[in-house]
Amino acid sequence: MSDNLVLEAKSVSKFFGTITALQNVDLHLNKGEVLGVVGDNGAGKSTLMKVLSGLYKPSEGSLFFDKEKVTLNSPRDSQNLGLEMVYQDLALAGNLPIGDNIFLGREPTRKVGPFNFLDHKKRKQLTEEHLAKLKINVKSADQKVEELSGGQRQAVAIARATAFNAKIVLMDEPTAALAVKEVGKVLDLILNLKKLGVSVIVISHRMDDIFTVCDRVMALFQGTNFAQSELKNTSRDEVIGWIMGKKD
Ligand SMILES: Nc1ncnc2c1ncn2[C@@H]1O[C@H](COP(=O)(O)OP(=O)(O)O)[C@@H](O)[C@H]1O
Ligand SMILES: [Mg+2]
Repeated sequence: MSDNLVLEAKSVSKFFGTITALQNVDLHLNKGEVLGVVGDNGAGKSTLMKVLSGLYKPSEGSLFFDKEKVTLNSPRDSQNLGLEMVYQDLALAGNLPIGDNIFLGREPTRKVGPFNFLDHKKRKQLTEEHLAKLKINVKSADQKVEELSGGQRQAVAIARATAFNAKIVLMDEPTAALAVKEVGKVLDLILNLKKLGVSVIVISHRMDDIFTVCDRVMALFQGTNFAQSELKNTSRDEVIGWIMGKKD
């Protein structure tokens, strides 16, 4: 496998009581690569992302970051290794401004004597620089998240995930709740991340998403690896077939 490997899961299984959500699943991701993960509802996509982010412990199997075997005890552990996850429900604080959301829990502070003050000016400046880098347009970093459109909220969630030099970003159905007009902007954002050298895993049901941004696509079926291909070597019809458990 390539020298550019940034993340690998080997033979990962996840059991919830008697339910087998994942069974011996392998996944790999290269630097700057966008990997699409597809599969029917219940195929195990979200569970796999939660294992990669350290939210769930795998029941069996191993994870490797930069080819080193790791044990993740929480999402904080994967964040420290440069991985960020954008969750399906976004988990933004609507009543807070964009800048506060991006820095929630990781605020830049200013030391004055023995005290740490939240540095609002610095936060606003860093937020605006970061939004500009990702080409995200909002009126102001002070705008409240509840005033934003669905697409802008998704952009803020992605901005938050990438504000701390993430090398790997996982996105669970980032376009599912968006109006058609807003989907393109989120896809552009993913392509911008790729240009910045970030590796991305994106779960989506939409073939337009997969075929616009991905380099490679893998399909899970009933908790197992079903098929995978470089995007250029497959077709929408073939991938839709994989989702339904069909291979030629
Ligand atoms: N926390 C959980 N407890 C029990 N079962 C779960 C839990 N999370 C997921 N599952 C089960 O694992 C399977 C895979 O779910 P999930 O990963 O959410 O699928 P997908 O994201 O592909 O729709 C499903 O059968 C689901 O009901
Ligand atoms: Mg899911």
